[in-house]
Amino acid sequence: APDAMPTHLRVILASPRGFCAGVERAIEIVERALEIYGPPVYVRHEIVHNKHVVETLRNQGAVFVEELTEVPDGAVTVFSAHGVPQAVVKEADRRALPVIDATCPLVSKVHREGQNLARKGREVIMIGHEGHPEVEGTRGQVPGGVHLVSQVEDVERLQIRDPDMVGYVTQTTLSVDDTKDVIEALKRRFPKIQGPDVKDICYATQNRQTAVRELASQVDLLLVVGARNSSNSNRLAEIGTTMGVPSYLIDDATMIEDAWFRGVSVVGVTAGASAPERLVRDLVARIDKVAPARAEQLQGIEEHMQFKLPRVLSDAMRERG
Ligand code: F3S
Repeated sequence: APDAMPTHLRVILASPRGFCAGVERAIEIVERALEIYGPPVYVRHEIVHNKHVVETLRNQGAVFVEELTEVPDGAVTVFSAHGVPQAVVKEADRRALPVIDATCPLVSKVHREGQNLARKGREVIMIGHEGHPEVEGTRGQVPGGVHLVSQVEDVERLQIRDPDMVGYVTQTTLSVDDTKDVIEALKRRFPKIQGPDVKDICYATQNRQTAVRELASQVDLLLVVGARNSSNSNRLAEIGTTMGVPSYLIDDATMIEDAWFRGVSVVGVTAGASAPERLVRDLVARIDKVAPARAEQLQGIEEHMQFKLPRVLSDAMRERG
């Protein structure tokens, strides 16, 4: 019967998947800060959007807060990978908090692009998702703020002072395809607009989307390990859905349901940029309990990106030998 539970399964893993260089760096920053300064180390917002990562660091002495008002005077404070508005930087300055900034360098690059556009007198449009901390950060880093658009329809509604004097930036973790459509709409409405094309979408987001598209064409079911609030993880599941493959975004192996596997013989697995590989291994082990599973991995783009740690940490580490 087509809807029978499978007697065995093939599992195909996407490549690349999981941690990006910005996430690895952000986690290392908290770990090193804990080693060097000792707990507690305060982290503004989830360091990366993954509760398993947050829980592990919390057990090592990290304290996660949403606002600086929750940080005691003098406490070592880490800004999350998503970046922060200027107002937060200024407030930390005013209180002379020892800050270590774990903002991903590729997010900082978008901040600078937005600042440069504003400096040239352009109104800045940001393509992104309302409520995401990266959008909050970029909005608060660009003098005069940004107009946020998420989809093509939003472009018509924009109220702009001078249509010849606009520019745009994008969130780093968007859908490459959707973003292209929005950029086209912007260029139609504002032929003189300046922007980076889709290059603000970071290498890790682009590579994981390319890999999942290839994966989705070969599987009956797609499982994406990642958090609800992880933008890049949501985009991976969306690609599967758009390609007609039942796709589920799951925090971890405990969330899978046997019913998903009815009539399935090939399962695709990938992970968002903030999901640890351990969760992928646990998921494959759990799938093997649904039906004996053989796992293989697709060939994909090789990644070599690595970001330097902030100076304060590399200097402190050198001093300690
Ligand atoms: Fe940075 Fe992209 Fe990862 S912006 S934090 S490398 S998803």
